[in-house]
Amino acid sequence: MHSVAITGTGVFTPTETITNDELVAAFNAYADLYNTENANEIAAGKLEAKPQSSADFILAASGIERRYVLDKSGVLDPARMYPSLPPRDDDAPSIMADIGVDAARQAIEMAGINAEDIDCILCAASNHERAYPAIAVEIQSLLGAGGFAYDMNVACSSATFGIQSATDMIRAGSVRNALVINPEICSAHLEWRDRDCHFIFGDVATATLLQRDEDATGAHFKVRSTRLATQFSNNIRNNNGFLRRTRDQMDDRRDMQFMQNGRKVFKEVLPLVSKHIATHMDEEKVKAGDLKRLWLHQANKSMNDYIGKRVLGRDPEPGEQPNILQDYANTSSAGSIIAFAQHSDDLTPGDIGLICSFGAGYSVGSVIVERA
Ligand code: COA
Repeated sequence: MHSVAITGTGVFTPTETITNDELVAAFNAYADLYNTENANEIAAGKLEAKPQSSADFILAASGIERRYVLDKSGVLDPARMYPSLPPRDDDAPSIMADIGVDAARQAIEMAGINAEDIDCILCAASNHERAYPAIAVEIQSLLGAGGFAYDMNVACSSATFGIQSATDMIRAGSVRNALVINPEICSAHLEWRDRDCHFIFGDVATATLLQRDEDATGAHFKVRSTRLATQFSNNIRNNNGFLRRTRDQMDDRRDMQFMQNGRKVFKEVLPLVSKHIATHMDEEKVKAGDLKRLWLHQANKSMNDYIGKRVLGRDPEPGEQPNILQDYANTSSAGSIIAFAQHSDDLTPGDIGLICSFGAGYSVGSVIVERA
């Protein structure tokens, strides 16, 4: 069995941001428009008036201050309220491949290897731009990588599930260098006209390069252990799929985009994740006092504060459990990897940390790493 290391990471960040104030101004203009256009039905009690959103509520409920998006103008147009991301020609790179390759190149450069040395690429994300050919195979071709590639989807846990798959393959010897890429175009699965969730998501792409430990040439993290779990729940769901275009279905069905029962998610996922991490640490004989850092899934600040406190047995010190969601919002599977990529350089050899993601499925994945 070979030991495995994370030798590179990359983060593609879009250039456009939307602040909570900008988001709320657009939503409220849309709500006014809707209420005016439907004034008669609302007065007759046939439709409910759209209530206004509030930037204060968003910050207090989530800790999010802004989000990056691939297209700001479409999202903020009160008459549109979704991003303008026109389909591309079959001969042009897909958007997911484009942003995934950007993150991948950063990871490859950090590791100091050549793209052709990569023999496995997993494109692990919550949504895929098309059914096939796999985005991962397109990325393999754009990078000039060898071996094989495939897409996988475990929603917000896609990155850690991808890391376990790659780690197991490298351990067993079937591949030597693997890239796990998480291009998340969350702006396209979010219903920006729904006050309850319009603030939640942002766009980004991350990449994690894994190699045999013995091949690492620069600063890196040994993968000590990985652990995954799933448990079925309808509380985070998106019904969009290849059966959606049957004649009895309408394109504007609300269930064709992200839906959640946020309160239930909050209540049910917290114990699941806390127990998962505690069991993983226990089995690996890692004590709370051994952990130098927690890189958690970035969905909600209160959730992360709670998990940090449960895992460490006390309130985390500043920097022990870095949050990036104030700037990026929830970026689905990419969130914990952004936190890891941006807040791990200062760890010293022997320092232990834990990456953890969780979300729809339900799903939870944890990766214990040690600075080499
Ligand atoms: N502006 C102003 N008020 C809003 C609002 C907005 N944008 N959105 C909702 N509200 C209102 C609600 O209508 C509700 O009003 P009511 O009490 O009169 O019914 C009130 O604010 C509280 O709403 P609620 O949805 O219960 O808030 P919350 O405190 O549960 O926070 C979430 C909402 C989504 C931030 C929170 O539940 C959460 O983070 N859950 C976990 C989400 C998660 O991790 N999902 C995984 C996704 S991958």
